[in-house]
Amino acid sequence: MTYTLPAAGILQRFGLTGRVAIVSGASAGLGVTIARGLAEAGADVVLAARRADRLAETAAAVEATGRRSLVVPTDIGSVDDCRRVVEASIGEFGRLDVLVNNAGTGEVGPAHKQPSGEFDRTLDINLAGAYRLSVAAAAAMTDGGSIINISSVLAFTTAGIPQAAYAASKAGLLGLTRDLAHQWTGRRGIRVNAVAPGFFATDMTEGYDAHMERRVADRIPAGRLGSADDLLGAIVYLASDASRYVTGSTLTVDGGFMIS
Ligand SMILES: NC(=O)c1ccc[n+]([C@@H]2O[C@H](COP(=O)([O-])OP(=O)(O)OC[C@H]3O[C@@H](n4cnc5c(N)ncnc54)[C@H](OP(=O)(O)O)[C@@H]3O)[C@@H](O)[C@H]2O)c1
Repeated sequence: MTYTLPAAGILQRFGLTGRVAIVSGASAGLGVTIARGLAEAGADVVLAARRADRLAETAAAVEATGRRSLVVPTDIGSVDDCRRVVEASIGEFGRLDVLVNNAGTGEVGPAHKQPSGEFDRTLDINLAGAYRLSVAAAAAMTDGGSIINISSVLAFTTAGIPQAAYAASKAGLLGLTRDLAHQWTGRRGIRVNAVAPGFFATDMTEGYDAHMERRVADRIPAGRLGSADDLLGAIVYLASDASRYVTGSTLTVDGGFMIS
């Protein structure tokens, strides 16, 4: 069998020039950096979350890279909002190539003290919300595409911090990733993968008290919590043609937390 050298060099395959990405949860935390990173790699970025004022700040960061952005206030709890953000992306840019399902919520507290309905609400945003947005996006990815679900190491293990609903939602995202990858990769050319971050300092981890934070930090072989920039290599890789034969997989970015 003869091997034909690919037309583009390996570094070019990481580029996202001409691509359009939606990032949910782009108003705070990891989503802001993910949006900026995709823009640095060449993509125009559609910014989805509920807080429009915060999205406008992310838009400025995207545009500072020379790429275009579009702010679409979105509640991923609503199927209509999920459809609307996809329609807005097509209306403004004429295409959709990448979806990062990053929006999420995570309460900390013992299961027996969890307020009524909180478990369902967490599952509805973290898991069903990603499903809703994926279904809407896939319908518009007519040239194929890449969907990246932001799961968590808590899909696999526990940090000893009570987060039953959150852990269940993040484990559910891995099942969703596998199944959608199986449904859509062959038929539609849409790859579906997950990233499982470890612990990153954001509004979400501010819910941890000093004892919890120390316990987590002591378990990380890299010796520190992650910074949002640490995720970008994995995101751009999975969004781009560099990962064109990767689907249904989960990439852990955790400073080694999972092996300790
Ligand atoms: N930080 C970590 O250590 C860590 C570790 C593993 C995984 N993760 C995951 O990474 C993702 C981002 O986390 P983060 O730490 O950056 O959290 P964060 O700072 O709390 O940001 C959460 C984002 O999700 C958005 N969001 C929440 N509910 C939404 C809804 N109903 N509709 C639309 N957007 C919604 C928020 O925007 P609005 O409030 O404006 O809607 C915000 O932009 C989450 O999926 C989280 O589970 C984080």
